[in-house]
Amino acid sequence: PAPGRDRLRIAIQKSGRLAEPARALLASCGLSWRESRDRLFCYGESLPIDLLLVRDDDIPGLIADGVCDLGIVGRNVLAEQDLAGRADTDGPRFRELRPLGFGGCRLAIAVPDAWQWREPSQLAGTRIATSYPQLLSQWLQGQGIAAQVVLLSGSVEIAPRLGQADAICDLVSSGATLAANQLKPVQTLLDSEAVLAGPAVDFDDVRAELMELLLRRLDGALRIRR
Ligand code: PRP
Ligand code: ZN
Ligand code: MG
Repeated sequence: PAPGRDRLRIAIQKSGRLAEPARALLASCGLSWRESRDRLFCYGESLPIDLLLVRDDDIPGLIADGVCDLGIVGRNVLAEQDLAGRADTDGPRFRELRPLGFGGCRLAIAVPDAWQWREPSQLAGTRIATSYPQLLSQWLQGQGIAAQVVLLSGSVEIAPRLGQADAICDLVSSGATLAANQLKPVQTLLDSEAVLAGPAVDFDDVRAELMELLLRRLDGALRIRR
């Protein structure tokens, strides 16, 4: 375990869809910061709660390793990395503390517009491109479907047109990216939104009180929004 600390460190996305809303939500909890010159670290001024600005995919690992205490990340990223970590650890390494009500999207299977979609078994023997191999494999296994998972880290929607895959499994928000690539969503695997994530084990130092204070303010802020 990481040594006890007297400040709370929250990892948020540096740039991307969750970056601004995450900061705005924390600011509405009364947090304010002084930014470092490289803008990767924000030192908490109103409370000892600092921000680390990182890539969203790094957030679960930073929490699991104790580098950060909390994080704001998509449930999709958290769920994928939770499954990925199950292979080499016993229990979960992090947990979802609160859904935050922004960044809504779903992880879905999408197929070319021309397909006549009836049921998941049509995916048997196909190649499915995704950045979420764990969530996709788990779902395929649950359905008893044998398909090939093609791992791509981005631009997944273009894979069918490039002949790399027959179908995809990716995030859908407005649906614009799918439509632009002549794909249609046919099956939802996971409903997602931004969540506050924390370690699986409770803090045993002053961070426990800081987290309690933050959660109280967060719940107040979320109540007003809803
Ligand atoms: C996400 C996702 C899809 C797209 C869906 O990518 O991977 O490609 O948004 O949104 P839409 O349905 O509104 O078109 P994004 O570039 O936001 O994030 P990423 O770089 O983490 O993939
Ligand atoms: Zn990302
Ligand atoms: Mg994308």
